[in-house]
Amino acid sequence: MKKVILLCLSMISAFAQSYAGKVPLVSQNQGVYDGTSRLNSPELLHNIMLYQNWGGLFVNLQIHWFRTLFFGITVGVLVVFFLHYIVIGPKKFAHDGKAIYVYNLFKRIIHWMAALAFVIVIPTGFMMIFGKELGGGTLVLDARYLHSIGTVLFIVSVIPMFLMWLIPMLATFDDVKWLFMAGGYLTKKKVVVPAGQFNAGQKMWFWLATLGGFVMIITGAAMYFEDFDLAILKSLNLDQIDILRISAIVHNFLGMAVTALFVTHLYMSLFAIKGSLDSMISGNKSEDEVKYMHSSFYKKLKKEDKI
Ligand code: HEM
Repeated sequence: MKKVILLCLSMISAFAQSYAGKVPLVSQNQGVYDGTSRLNSPELLHNIMLYQNWGGLFVNLQIHWFRTLFFGITVGVLVVFFLHYIVIGPKKFAHDGKAIYVYNLFKRIIHWMAALAFVIVIPTGFMMIFGKELGGGTLVLDARYLHSIGTVLFIVSVIPMFLMWLIPMLATFDDVKWLFMAGGYLTKKKVVVPAGQFNAGQKMWFWLATLGGFVMIITGAAMYFEDFDLAILKSLNLDQIDILRISAIVHNFLGMAVTALFVTHLYMSLFAIKGSLDSMISGNKSEDEVKYMHSSFYKKLKKEDKI
Protein backbone atom coordinates (compact mmCIF):
# COMPACT_ATOMS: atom_id res chain seq x y z
CA MET A 1 0.00 0.00 0.00
CA LYS A 2 2.82 2.33 0.90
CA LYS A 3 4.42 1.79 -2.50
CA VAL A 4 1.13 2.51 -4.26
CA ILE A 5 0.77 5.76 -2.35
CA LEU A 6 4.35 6.72 -3.17
CA LEU A 7 3.72 6.00 -6.81
CA CYS A 8 0.58 8.13 -6.69
CA LEU A 9 2.52 10.92 -5.03
CA SER A 10 5.20 10.93 -7.68
CA MET A 11 2.53 10.99 -10.40
CA ILE A 12 0.84 13.90 -8.66
CA SER A 13 4.22 15.57 -8.30
CA ALA A 14 4.95 15.15 -12.00
CA PHE A 15 1.54 16.52 -12.83
CA ALA A 16 1.93 19.42 -10.43
CA GLN A 17 5.37 20.20 -11.82
CA SER A 18 4.18 20.40 -15.38
CA TYR A 19 1.07 22.29 -14.34
CA ALA A 20 2.88 24.80 -12.11
CA GLY A 21 5.86 25.21 -14.37
CA LYS A 22 8.27 22.75 -12.76
CA VAL A 23 7.59 23.37 -9.13
CA PRO A 24 8.85 20.18 -7.52
CA LEU A 25 6.86 18.21 -5.00
CA VAL A 26 9.33 18.94 -2.24
CA SER A 27 8.77 22.65 -2.45
CA GLN A 28 5.59 21.89 -0.66
CA ASN A 29 5.17 25.51 0.26
CA GLN A 30 4.63 26.28 -3.36
CA GLY A 31 3.32 22.86 -4.28
CA VAL A 32 0.40 22.95 -1.95
CA TYR A 33 -0.16 26.63 -1.65
CA ASP A 34 0.78 28.43 -4.79
CA GLY A 35 -2.70 28.17 -6.15
CA THR A 36 -1.43 26.59 -9.34
CA SER A 37 -1.03 23.06 -8.08
CA ARG A 38 -3.78 20.44 -7.91
CA LEU A 39 -2.41 19.19 -4.60
CA ASN A 40 -5.02 21.30 -2.91
CA SER A 41 -7.71 18.65 -3.20
CA PRO A 42 -9.00 17.92 0.34
CA GLU A 43 -9.69 14.24 -0.49
CA LEU A 44 -6.21 13.76 -1.81
CA LEU A 45 -4.63 15.44 1.20
CA HIS A 46 -6.78 13.34 3.49
CA ASN A 47 -5.55 10.18 1.77
CA ILE A 48 -1.95 11.29 2.03
CA MET A 49 -2.50 11.94 5.73
CA LEU A 50 -3.89 8.47 6.24
CA TYR A 51 -1.19 6.53 4.50
CA GLN A 52 2.12 8.29 4.94
CA ASN A 53 4.40 8.16 7.96
CA TRP A 54 5.13 11.85 8.28
CA GLY A 55 2.41 12.82 5.86
CA GLY A 56 -0.27 13.50 8.47
CA LEU A 57 1.87 15.81 10.52
CA PHE A 58 3.31 17.53 7.50
CA VAL A 59 0.01 18.13 5.73
CA ASN A 60 -1.62 19.29 8.93
CA LEU A 61 1.16 21.80 9.57
CA GLN A 62 1.20 22.86 5.97
CA ILE A 63 -2.53 23.49 5.80
CA HIS A 64 -3.26 24.85 9.24
CA TRP A 65 -0.11 26.12 10.91
CA PHE A 66 2.89 27.27 8.91
CA ARG A 67 1.37 30.33 7.32
CA THR A 68 -0.54 31.33 10.44
CA LEU A 69 2.56 30.99 12.60
CA PHE A 70 4.81 32.84 10.18
CA PHE A 71 2.31 35.66 9.95
CA GLY A 72 1.55 35.73 13.70
CA ILE A 73 5.19 35.62 14.82
CA THR A 74 6.35 38.30 12.39
CA VAL A 75 3.49 40.66 13.16
CA GLY A 76 3.83 39.91 16.90
CA VAL A 77 7.54 40.78 16.92
CA LEU A 78 6.91 43.97 14.91
CA VAL A 79 4.13 45.06 17.28
CA VAL A 80 6.29 44.41 20.37
CA PHE A 81 9.14 46.51 18.97
CA PHE A 82 6.82 49.24 17.78
CA LEU A 83 5.43 49.48 21.33
CA HIS A 84 8.94 49.37 22.78
CA TYR A 85 9.94 52.27 20.56
CA ILE A 86 6.88 54.30 21.53
CA VAL A 87 6.88 53.52 25.27
CA ILE A 88 10.58 53.20 26.12
CA GLY A 89 12.31 54.60 23.08
CA PRO A 90 15.85 54.26 21.76
CA LYS A 91 18.97 54.48 23.86
CA LYS A 92 21.16 57.45 23.07
CA PHE A 93 24.87 57.63 23.76
CA ALA A 94 27.32 60.49 23.49
CA HIS A 95 29.35 60.32 20.33
CA ASP A 96 31.82 63.04 21.20
CA GLY A 97 34.14 60.82 23.25
CA LYS A 98 36.68 58.30 22.01
CA ALA A 99 35.82 55.98 19.14
CA ILE A 100 36.56 52.33 19.89
CA TYR A 101 37.45 50.24 16.84
CA VAL A 102 35.52 46.96 17.16
CA TYR A 103 34.79 45.60 13.65
CA ASN A 104 37.66 45.44 11.17
CA LEU A 105 37.06 45.65 7.40
CA PHE A 106 37.02 41.87 6.89
CA LYS A 107 34.36 41.41 9.59
CA ARG A 108 32.25 44.20 8.12
CA ILE A 109 32.43 42.75 4.60
CA ILE A 110 31.45 39.29 5.83
CA HIS A 111 28.65 40.80 7.88
CA TRP A 112 27.22 42.75 4.95
CA MET A 113 27.39 39.68 2.73
CA ALA A 114 25.32 37.77 5.29
CA ALA A 115 22.99 40.76 5.56
CA LEU A 116 22.48 40.85 1.79
CA ALA A 117 21.87 37.09 1.80
CA PHE A 118 19.13 37.47 4.43
CA VAL A 119 17.58 40.42 2.68
CA ILE A 120 17.13 38.08 -0.30
CA VAL A 121 16.34 34.86 1.52
CA ILE A 122 13.71 36.08 3.99
CA PRO A 123 11.36 37.96 1.63
CA THR A 124 11.63 35.22 -1.02
CA GLY A 125 10.93 32.60 1.67
CA PHE A 126 7.80 34.54 2.59
CA MET A 127 6.82 34.70 -1.07
CA MET A 128 6.93 30.90 -1.22
CA ILE A 129 5.00 30.50 2.01
CA PHE A 130 2.33 32.93 0.86
CA GLY A 131 2.58 31.75 -2.74
CA LYS A 132 -1.13 31.07 -2.93
CA GLU A 133 -2.03 34.64 -1.98
CA LEU A 134 0.48 35.93 -4.52
CA GLY A 135 -1.19 33.95 -7.27
CA GLY A 136 1.58 31.35 -7.63
CA GLY A 137 3.11 30.77 -11.05
CA THR A 138 6.35 32.32 -12.25
CA LEU A 139 6.48 34.95 -9.50
CA VAL A 140 6.72 32.25 -6.83
CA LEU A 141 9.02 30.20 -9.01
CA ASP A 142 11.37 33.16 -9.45
CA ALA A 143 11.27 33.70 -5.70
CA ARG A 144 12.42 30.10 -5.32
CA TYR A 145 15.42 30.65 -7.61
CA LEU A 146 16.34 33.88 -5.85
CA HIS A 147 16.01 32.04 -2.53
CA SER A 148 18.68 29.58 -3.68
CA ILE A 149 20.95 32.37 -4.94
CA GLY A 150 20.64 34.08 -1.54
CA THR A 151 21.45 30.75 0.10
CA VAL A 152 24.71 30.45 -1.85
CA LEU A 153 25.68 33.95 -0.68
CA PHE A 154 24.77 32.94 2.86
CA ILE A 155 26.92 29.78 2.67
CA VAL A 156 29.92 31.86 1.57
CA SER A 157 29.46 34.34 4.45
CA VAL A 158 28.31 32.13 7.32
CA ILE A 159 31.46 30.00 7.51
CA PRO A 160 33.91 32.92 8.04
CA MET A 161 31.33 34.61 10.29
CA PHE A 162 31.14 31.51 12.46
CA LEU A 163 34.93 31.31 12.75
CA MET A 164 35.63 35.02 13.29
CA TRP A 165 33.14 35.44 16.16
CA LEU A 166 33.14 31.95 17.65
CA ILE A 167 35.27 32.78 20.72
CA PRO A 168 33.69 36.11 21.83
CA MET A 169 30.25 34.55 21.34
CA LEU A 170 30.81 31.80 23.93
CA ALA A 171 28.51 32.08 26.95
CA THR A 172 29.74 33.76 30.14
CA PHE A 173 28.20 34.53 33.53
CA ASP A 174 27.49 38.07 32.29
CA ASP A 175 24.92 36.57 29.96
CA VAL A 176 22.83 35.24 32.85
CA LYS A 177 22.84 38.66 34.49
CA TRP A 178 22.04 40.29 31.14
CA LEU A 179 19.03 38.01 30.70
CA PHE A 180 17.73 38.79 34.19
CA MET A 181 17.72 42.50 33.46
CA ALA A 182 16.56 42.05 29.84
CA GLY A 183 19.70 43.82 28.71
CA GLY A 184 18.54 47.10 30.26
CA TYR A 185 16.05 47.54 27.42
CA LEU A 186 13.02 47.79 29.70
CA THR A 187 13.99 51.13 31.15
CA LYS A 188 14.49 54.58 29.66
CA LYS A 189 17.47 55.13 31.97
CA LYS A 190 21.05 54.53 30.92
CA VAL A 191 22.08 51.57 33.07
CA VAL A 192 25.38 49.72 33.23
CA VAL A 193 24.79 46.40 31.49
CA PRO A 194 26.93 43.32 32.18
CA ALA A 195 28.31 42.15 28.84
CA GLY A 196 31.58 41.43 27.12
CA GLN A 197 32.18 42.38 23.49
CA PHE A 198 28.81 40.79 22.73
CA ASN A 199 25.78 40.60 24.98
CA ALA A 200 23.52 37.58 25.54
CA GLY A 201 20.99 38.80 22.95
CA GLN A 202 23.68 39.21 20.31
CA LYS A 203 25.03 35.77 21.18
CA MET A 204 21.61 34.15 20.76
CA TRP A 205 21.31 35.75 17.36
CA PHE A 206 24.80 34.63 16.39
CA TRP A 207 24.21 30.99 17.34
CA LEU A 208 20.83 30.87 15.70
CA ALA A 209 22.11 32.54 12.52
CA THR A 210 25.18 30.29 12.25
CA LEU A 211 24.29 26.85 13.67
CA GLY A 212 20.63 27.35 12.79
CA GLY A 213 21.82 28.66 9.42
CA PHE A 214 23.72 25.42 8.77
CA VAL A 215 20.58 23.41 9.50
CA MET A 216 18.60 25.71 7.19
CA ILE A 217 21.17 25.09 4.45
CA ILE A 218 21.04 21.30 4.87
CA THR A 219 17.24 21.08 5.03
CA GLY A 220 16.93 23.59 2.17
CA ALA A 221 19.37 21.56 0.06
CA ALA A 222 17.41 18.39 0.80
CA MET A 223 14.28 20.05 -0.59
CA TYR A 224 16.03 21.75 -3.48
CA PHE A 225 17.93 18.72 -4.79
CA GLU A 226 15.10 16.36 -3.95
CA ASP A 227 16.58 13.45 -5.80
CA PHE A 228 19.18 12.10 -3.45
CA ASP A 229 19.87 8.64 -2.29
CA LEU A 230 21.92 8.50 0.87
CA ALA A 231 22.81 5.25 2.57
CA ILE A 232 22.56 6.94 5.97
CA LEU A 233 18.87 7.67 5.36
CA LYS A 234 18.21 4.05 4.59
CA SER A 235 19.95 3.00 7.77
CA LEU A 236 17.59 5.33 9.64
CA ASN A 237 14.72 3.55 7.93
CA LEU A 238 13.47 6.79 6.43
CA ASP A 239 12.29 6.93 2.88
CA GLN A 240 12.94 9.91 0.69
CA ILE A 241 9.51 11.50 0.89
CA ASP A 242 9.69 11.45 4.68
CA ILE A 243 13.13 13.08 4.59
CA LEU A 244 11.65 15.81 2.46
CA ARG A 245 8.76 16.28 4.84
CA ILE A 246 11.01 16.33 7.90
CA SER A 247 13.27 18.83 6.10
CA ALA A 248 10.30 21.04 5.29
CA ILE A 249 9.03 20.89 8.89
CA VAL A 250 12.44 21.74 10.38
CA HIS A 251 13.10 24.41 7.73
CA ASN A 252 9.76 26.10 8.44
CA PHE A 253 10.02 26.10 12.24
CA LEU A 254 13.64 27.20 12.24
CA GLY A 255 12.77 29.77 9.58
CA MET A 256 10.23 31.27 12.00
CA ALA A 257 12.86 31.58 14.74
CA VAL A 258 15.42 33.04 12.31
CA THR A 259 12.88 35.55 11.00
CA ALA A 260 11.90 36.60 14.54
CA LEU A 261 15.51 37.15 15.60
CA PHE A 262 16.43 38.79 12.31
CA VAL A 263 13.66 41.35 12.83
CA THR A 264 14.92 41.75 16.40
CA HIS A 265 18.46 42.29 15.11
CA LEU A 266 17.22 44.92 12.68
CA TYR A 267 15.28 46.71 15.38
CA MET A 268 18.24 46.66 17.79
CA SER A 269 20.78 47.84 15.25
CA LEU A 270 18.64 50.34 13.35
CA PHE A 271 16.30 51.75 16.02
CA ALA A 272 16.91 50.64 19.63
CA ILE A 273 20.39 52.13 19.91
CA LYS A 274 20.80 55.41 18.06
CA GLY A 275 23.87 55.39 15.84
CA SER A 276 24.51 51.65 16.23
CA LEU A 277 24.68 51.21 12.46
CA ASP A 278 27.86 53.35 12.39
CA SER A 279 29.76 50.48 13.99
CA MET A 280 29.05 48.25 11.00
CA ILE A 281 30.00 51.04 8.58
CA SER A 282 33.12 52.58 10.12
CA GLY A 283 33.96 49.76 12.55
CA ASN A 284 33.81 52.17 15.50
CA LYS A 285 31.60 52.28 18.56
CA SER A 286 31.33 55.27 20.86
CA GLU A 287 33.12 54.99 24.20
CA ASP A 288 29.93 55.93 26.02
CA GLU A 289 28.00 53.05 24.42
CA VAL A 290 30.71 50.49 25.17
CA LYS A 291 30.99 51.76 28.76
CA TYR A 292 27.28 51.21 29.45
CA MET A 293 26.20 48.43 27.10
CA HIS A 294 29.37 46.28 27.17
CA SER A 295 30.72 47.14 30.59
CA SER A 296 32.94 44.06 31.06
CA PHE A 297 34.47 44.58 27.63
CA TYR A 298 35.09 48.23 28.51
CA LYS A 299 36.83 47.28 31.76
CA LYS A 300 38.97 44.75 29.91
CA LEU A 301 40.04 47.30 27.29
CA LYS A 302 40.88 49.81 30.03
CA LYS A 303 42.90 47.21 31.94
CA GLU A 304 44.83 46.30 28.80
CA ASP A 305 45.45 50.00 28.15
CA LYS A 306 43.76 49.81 24.78
CA ILE A 307 41.66 52.89 25.37
C1 HEM B 1 20.08 44.38 6.73
C2 HEM B 1 20.46 43.53 7.63
C3 HEM B 1 21.37 43.80 8.79
C4 HEM B 1 21.68 44.98 9.44
C5 HEM B 1 21.15 46.37 9.15
C6 HEM B 1 22.61 44.66 10.48
C7 HEM B 1 23.19 45.54 11.33
C8 HEM B 1 24.13 45.25 12.28
C9 HEM B 1 24.79 46.19 13.15
C10 HEM B 1 24.56 47.68 13.14
C11 HEM B 1 25.63 45.52 13.95
C12 HEM B 1 26.51 46.09 15.05
C13 HEM B 1 25.73 46.08 16.31
C14 HEM B 1 26.58 46.49 17.48
O1 HEM B 1 27.71 46.03 17.58
O2 HEM B 1 26.06 47.25 18.30
C15 HEM B 1 25.50 44.13 13.61
C16 HEM B 1 26.17 43.12 14.23
C17 HEM B 1 26.00 41.79 13.96
N1 HEM B 1 25.26 41.27 12.94
FE1 HEM B 1 24.08 42.29 11.69
N2 HEM B 1 22.83 43.31 10.46
C18 HEM B 1 22.10 42.76 9.44
C19 HEM B 1 22.04 41.43 9.09
C20 HEM B 1 22.71 40.43 9.73
C21 HEM B 1 22.63 39.03 9.38
C22 HEM B 1 21.79 38.49 8.26
C23 HEM B 1 23.40 38.36 10.25
C24 HEM B 1 23.65 36.89 10.35
C25 HEM B 1 23.53 36.05 9.42
C26 HEM B 1 23.95 39.31 11.16
C27 HEM B 1 24.75 38.99 12.20
C28 HEM B 1 25.33 39.90 13.03
C29 HEM B 1 26.12 39.54 14.15
C30 HEM B 1 26.40 38.10 14.62
C31 HEM B 1 26.56 40.73 14.73
C32 HEM B 1 27.43 40.89 15.96
C33 HEM B 1 26.55 40.78 17.16
C34 HEM B 1 25.39 41.71 17.12
O3 HEM B 1 25.57 42.93 17.16
O4 HEM B 1 24.28 41.18 17.02
N3 HEM B 1 23.53 40.56 10.81
N4 HEM B 1 24.60 44.00 12.58
